[in-house]
Amino acid sequence: MVSLNGKNIVVGVTGSIAVFKAAILVRLLTGEGANVKVVMTPLAKEFITPLTMATVSKNPILVDFFNPENGEWNSHVSLGEWADAYLIAPATANTIAKMAGGIADNLLLTTYLSAKCPVFIAPAMDLDMYAHTATQDNIARLKTYGNHIIEPGVGELASGLVGKGRMAEPVDIVGYLNEYFCKCTTLTGKKIMVTAGGTIEAIDPVRFISNHSSGKMGVAIAEELASRGAEVTLIKGNITVPVTDRRIKIIEALSAEGMYKACTEIFPNTDAAVMCAAVADYTPSEVSGEKIKKDESNWLLPLKRTKDIAGELGKLKQGRLLVGFALETTDEDRNALRKLKEKNLDFILLNSLRDEGAGFGHDTNKIAILHQNGSRQDYPVAAKKDLAKNIADTIENYLL
Ligand code: PMT
Repeated sequence: MVSLNGKNIVVGVTGSIAVFKAAILVRLLTGEGANVKVVMTPLAKEFITPLTMATVSKNPILVDFFNPENGEWNSHVSLGEWADAYLIAPATANTIAKMAGGIADNLLLTTYLSAKCPVFIAPAMDLDMYAHTATQDNIARLKTYGNHIIEPGVGELASGLVGKGRMAEPVDIVGYLNEYFCKCTTLTGKKIMVTAGGTIEAIDPVRFISNHSSGKMGVAIAEELASRGAEVTLIKGNITVPVTDRRIKIIEALSAEGMYKACTEIFPNTDAAVMCAAVADYTPSEVSGEKIKKDESNWLLPLKRTKDIAGELGKLKQGRLLVGFALETTDEDRNALRKLKEKNLDFILLNSLRDEGAGFGHDTNKIAILHQNGSRQDYPVAAKKDLAKNIADTIENYLL
C-alpha cells in the first residue's frame, strides 16, 4: 500500500483559529513517515508558537525571508523544489486572495509561487467570508491553476455561528493526501503523449478551416493520466479549456502539419499515445500571404489531404500502445473498426454525434471502447472527466 512514507511535505500555516488543528495535522503527517517542514505567516505565530510547530514537525519553522540572527537566506525556491506536496492548512481568506492574485509578501506566498509540486489548500474562515463571492471567485481561480481545494466542513465556527468554513479535520486531510499519492503512482515512470483540440488550417492571414473540438476530452485524459503519475506531454491544438495540471508538458501544434511533426518527434520516446485531437483531413493547397479579396464570383478553394498522424504512428509503434478516437455520424461501429485496423491502433474510443451529450464541446460524452481482439465496453453518457478515468484504467490494463 502506497502511503506518505518518505514524502516531503511543506505545510503552510496562516493566521486562523483553526491553527490548533495544524499541529495535529503535522503530527499525523510525520506519523505517516512524511518529512515535514512548516512555513508560517507572521500572523500565524500569534495563534500558535513556532516552538510547538517545530516540535511536532521535527524541523525548524520558517517565517522570514532570512534569519535575522545570522542573515541566512530561507530559500523559497529550494523549499518548493524539495516538496512533493505543498499543503496550506489552515488557509485564510486573506492568503487565498493573495494566492489567487499572485501576491508574494511573505515566505508562505513566495514558496507557493515557486512550488512545482501539487498544492493542497484547506480553507478555514467564518461562513460569510467563505460564502462571499470574492472568496468563491478566488477559490475557483486557484482551482483553474491546478490547486487542490480540500473543502471545509460545516459546523460551529470560532464566531459561534454555525455554517460552512471549518477547516477539514486533520485525519481527513491526511486521507486526501494519501489517496492522491496512492493514485499518483500507478503510472509512475510511464511517458504518455495525448493530443487534444481541433487543428487550424490557414487559408490566408485572416481565414482558416477548423472544427468544433474544445479539447475537453483530451485535456481530461491528459490530466487523469498525470494524476496517476504518468509523464504526460500534451500536443495541444486549438482548445478552449485551461490545462490545470502543472506537471503536464504542453507543446502547441495548431495545424495538422505542425501536429504531425510534433507527434512523430515525441512518440518514439513514449510508452503510449492517445490521439484525441480532431485533425483536419484537408488543408488549403496553398496559403495566401495576403488577405484574399472577395469579388462577385463563387470561390472554389482547392484542398489537399493532410497526413494521417495516427496512421503514421501505427507504422512506427514497435510495441508502444496507440489509442485512437473515432468521431462518427453514421455507420459508427463499422467506421470505427476500420480506423482501428487501418491505423494499427490497440483500441479505439468511438463517440457519435448522433448521441445526445456526446462529442464536441459538451462536458459529457458517450463512448464505446473497441479493442483489436474484438472485445468492447460500452459506457453510458458521463462527464468527460469520469470517462477519462475509464480510459486511464484501460490504458493501465495494457501498460501494466
Ligand atoms: O474536444 P472535445 O470538444 O472535448 O470533443 C472531443 C472529440 C469529439 C474531438 C473527441 O472525442 C474525438 O472524437 N476526437 C477524434 C476526432 C476525429 O478527428 O476523429 P476521426 O474519426 O476523424 O479520426 C480518427 C483518429 O485519427 C483520431 O484519433 C484522430 O485524432 C486521428 N487522425 C485523424 C486525421 C488525421 N489527419 N490524423 C489523425 O491522427
